Amino acid sequence: MSTKTPPPTVGETRILACSVIAGGAGKTQDVINLANEAAARGNKVGVADFDPQRTASHILGYQDPPDGQPTIFDVLQGNCRLEDAVVPARYRIKDGDDDSAFRQIPNLELILGTPQMADAEVNLGLDPAGVLWLQNVLDEQMPEGRWDILFFDCGPTLGILLLSIAMINPEVIGCVADEFKYIIGLQDLEETLEKGAKKFRRFGFKTEVQHILATNIPLNADGEIRRSAGAVADDAIKAIRSNPDWSEKLLPIIRRKQRFKDTIVQQKPLRYLDPRNEALDDIAAVADALHIPRRNSTRKR
Ligand SMILES: Nc1ncnc2c1ncn2[C@@H]1O[C@H](COP(=O)(O)OP(=O)(O)OP(=O)(O)O)[C@@H](O)[C@H]1O
Ligand SMILES: [Mg+2]
Repeated sequence: MSTKTPPPTVGETRILACSVIAGGAGKTQDVINLANEAAARGNKVGVADFDPQRTASHILGYQDPPDGQPTIFDVLQGNCRLEDAVVPARYRIKDGDDDSAFRQIPNLELILGTPQMADAEVNLGLDPAGVLWLQNVLDEQMPEGRWDILFFDCGPTLGILLLSIAMINPEVIGCVADEFKYIIGLQDLEETLEKGAKKFRRFGFKTEVQHILATNIPLNADGEIRRSAGAVADDAIKAIRSNPDWSEKLLPIIRRKQRFKDTIVQQKPLRYLDPRNEALDDIAAVADALHIPRRNSTRKR
């Protein structure tokens, strides 16, 4: 386990980004669950949804942004300030689209995502300084004292949006799930960041994968991988554990639980959908390993 301290920050805010080039690695669930855990621990938390699929925004209560509500794309375009794209995170408590159908999640805010972020990838590529846009926005517009921790949910591409996040030197969490393709995705992510470091070193780029988080892995009651349920998952974790560069970065594993699927349909993060789910203990263990502090005395989950 990596014990690098103190973690890098922008102002007072610690930045964590979940990424890997492979769809379905658990990036969005990892961001949402860790952000909820951190918020429940009394940290002020932001989630920035950079994925054009905008699953994080959906689960956190915004299927489509309300009319006139700016998103991260408007911030990128320079049409509004970062704060204008921030909404309170919430979960659904009944049917309907108005605010009464949702309950706000304490300490948790969302920087709204949008499908337009797919265009951003192209637009930024045409701008020689495109990769610096986020660094500039955060330097100039990060609301002081607003967030202790800011999580980025990245899309499954290694383009300029990812590089723009990497430019702010976040702690990158490489996400893997139960298939070998995620191991290849992790290698690709590392290569992309290495190339970025060569190309943008003079801008201070030194980002690398600092943590590896495996989710959707079948575990038995003792927390060991059930090979009978998933030889592929077992092999994927073995590949990480047998690589000295990776083994020390591996965070506690998040077990497979079917309820994860319902979080999207019901627009409820796991801790509100199924507060007794054992995977929440795994998520708390990951938060501990990441040294996410408990700032409140009540330890309710
Ligand atoms: N621990 C888990 N147990 C069971 N299912 C899980 C677990 N973690 C994630 N999943 C499921 O795996 C699928 C992929 O997860 P998620 O959407 O978080 O991945 P992603 O990396 O964000 O994908 P994308 O690249 O599409 O953005 C989802 O259906 C999610 O509910
Ligand atoms: Mg996702």
